[in-house]
Order: sequence, then C-alpha cells, then structure tokens
Amino acid sequence: MNQKLYMVSLGPGDVKLLTLKALHAFKECDAICVPTKSEDNSFNKSISYKIVSSALEMLHARKPIVPVYSPMRFRHEDWVDEADVILDTLKRYNKVCFVTLGDAAIYSSIYYLLDIIKEKDANIYKNCEVIAGITSFSAASAEAKKALCLGDEELIIKPINPRSEVKATQIFMRPKIGMDTENLGEGDFYTFENMYLEDAKITPSKIAKVKKYMTLFINFAKRS
Ligand SMILES: C[S@@+](CC[C@H](N)C(=O)[O-])C[C@H]1O[C@@H](n2cnc3c(N)ncnc32)[C@H](O)[C@@H]1O
Repeated sequence: MNQKLYMVSLGPGDVKLLTLKALHAFKECDAICVPTKSEDNSFNKSISYKIVSSALEMLHARKPIVPVYSPMRFRHEDWVDEADVILDTLKRYNKVCFVTLGDAAIYSSIYYLLDIIKEKDANIYKNCEVIAGITSFSAASAEAKKALCLGDEELIIKPINPRSEVKATQIFMRPKIGMDTENLGEGDFYTFENMYLEDAKITPSKIAKVKKYMTLFINFAKRS
C-alpha cells in the first residue's frame, strides 16, 4: 500500500490563491485533515475549512474532512497529538492532505508535525510532499500594489511576540555568474539552481562558485 501525505499550503484566504498543485492534491487524496482551534472540533471559526470547502466545491468532489484540534499553545505534546491524528487518518485512508494557511515555510506548524512524523513513521515522512503556497505578505504586497523589495533593498520578517531568542534564516538572491560565495558566510546552507527546470539541482550546502543566475541560497536558522 503506497501511502502518501500531502502538506498543503492554502494561501492567505482567497480560494483563487490556491495553487494547481494544491488542487491536484485535493483531487488525489482520500481525506483532508483540517486544523481547528475549537475544542469541540467544529469548524465555525476556521478559515482553512472555508478554503478547503470552496476548493472541493470547485472540484465537484466530496472528501471526508478530519478535524485536527490545534490549540496553538506551542507545546510539544499538542503537536504530538496533532501528528497522531494525521497518522491515525493514514491508517484509515491511503492518501491524506493536511492543510496550513499561507505558505508552509512561514510560521506554520507543519515542520513541528513533520519532525514528529519522521520519528514515528519514517516511511510516511519519506512519502510526504510539502506543497508551497502564497504567503500573506506576498498577497498583501499585491493588494497594496507595493513591492516588498526593489533594487538593493532587503526583506525582513519579524515575529512580533518572540517566545525566545530570535534566530534568522537568510535568503540570498540575484547572484552574478562566476562569483565566489565565500562572503555569504557559513551555516546550514542549501543551494537551489534552476528550480523546476530540466537541469534543476538542490545541493544541501553552499556551492563555491555561481554557475547560473537562477540560483538562490538559503542559510537556515540554526535549530537544535
Ligand atoms: C501563524 S502565521 C502564518 C503565516 C502564513 N503561513 C503565511 O504564509 O503568511 C499567522 C500570521 O500571518 C499573518 N496572516 C496570515 N494570513 C493573513 C491574512 N489573510 N491577512 C492578514 N494577515 C495574515 C498574520 O500576521 C497572522 O498573525
């Protein structure tokens, strides 16, 4: 049985800002796990539920929706409970989606959940696909018709109420072909070249010399 878990980014609230990949995952899956802050597992206040319902309507599809109680208390035991709901759903259904607002990379619970899923079931972790989405701030920039960065500007995203020491992820873009990458510093670097093109390459380190303009580097925040 080839089980598959999709971690689907929903975008910032408008169903029209869902990606085709997200729609495809909804079409393919047998059940959709939707987080809810309501203790009674209702979806009265859930934006995610609204987006998922609209998407299923657009697809003329009906899928079981499984509530995942997500109290947003940042407690490990809550994430374990949430991961257990997803793993339990995968015992009943072969292909399962879990959804998150905006993009999964930005302040979402999915990587806490994936760390737990990786420990509990390495095979499901291996067969998991994270689907990128439109962030709230990309959408906000479009609504305001104002660029987030132009020319030599940089973009800073800050947590308003940090609970502990603030660490930073750095993204380096717009390199020059042939440039040396020594000045970019050291850390948990990944290099992404020509993503989604025929010769796409992802290197889990910093390449020494830039070969293509379509290259970006991420120095991920140091996490224990
Ligand atoms: C837990 S973070 C999730 C961010 C999300 N993953 C993203 O990619 O934007 C929630 C915060 O994102 C921002 N946010 C998300 N959706 C938004 C929306 N539709 N309108 C305004 N702000 C939004 C707010 O600052 C909110 O407190």
